[in-house]
Amino acid sequence: MQEQYAVIGNPIAQSKSPMIHGMFAQMTGQDMLYSKIEGALGGFAAAVDAFRAAGGRGLNITTPFKLDACAYATQKSARVQLSGAANALKFDGERVLAENFDGIGLVRDISQNLHSPMRGKRVLMLGAGGAARGALLPILEQVPLELVIANRTLQKACDLASIGAQQGRVRSSGYAELAGHSFDLVLNATSASLVGELPPVPASVFTRCSLAYELAYGKGLTPFLRLAHNTGVKQLADGVGMLAEQAAEAFAWWRGVRPDTRAVIEKLTVPLV
Ligand code: ATR
Repeated sequence: MQEQYAVIGNPIAQSKSPMIHGMFAQMTGQDMLYSKIEGALGGFAAAVDAFRAAGGRGLNITTPFKLDACAYATQKSARVQLSGAANALKFDGERVLAENFDGIGLVRDISQNLHSPMRGKRVLMLGAGGAARGALLPILEQVPLELVIANRTLQKACDLASIGAQQGRVRSSGYAELAGHSFDLVLNATSASLVGELPPVPASVFTRCSLAYELAYGKGLTPFLRLAHNTGVKQLADGVGMLAEQAAEAFAWWRGVRPDTRAVIEKLTVPLV
């Protein structure tokens, strides 16, 4: 019988994960089935119980269930413990293992696909919500010269910076204090682009920036990317590569073989300018 995997979220119709994992399975010759589950709000545990009872082996987790997935797990990786959120589960008898590959996917995309390693760079991350929490440790593992976390609600940026303080040079900032400062790499980890908004980031942050990265994907030239482009940033990217890389990490975790992401990235990439 084919082993079963799925992505669970609400809404779920938009998810590219079945297409991505279908391509990975074909490329690596893995005999598996990957479907979509629309979990009822408040019904995450019941939906996962039913999936496991039917023989399900692993899940990807998307909005709004990443915190529920963390709570459901019996064993959590350090990244999940830190972020409080899981984006992948693996079922092994009674054990439920939780992982969060979002940040690793981001770092792999930036360092390998976009050839922009973070080591020794000044990195600015906008946002201190779930996406930023997931990215924190993997970014600091790259040993940037400095990571600055800017957020509208300053306290959340402070809290996140203090979590990362053991791992590297990281500090928090409000948006206004960024005026006159410039960074090598600027990441938008806020959810502003999902509703067509621009975080109140001063254009000066892009003055010597070589890569502006939008973690959201499929939104085209978002207000953030447009500002970066208009300020002269040469390389712009959205989260398509991050999506493909986190999927490849989950696939490797479940199946023991890491697929090449190039074909998936090529298929999903939409030119930004
Ligand atoms: P996600 O899981 O996508 O990270 P989240 O945990 O709700 O979602 O976090 C959303 C992040 O985007 C937060 O950092 C939020 O800033 P606040 O903490 O100050 O609310 C940020 N955000 C959302 N809309 C924004 C906007 N228009 N401008 C700036 N930051 C915004």
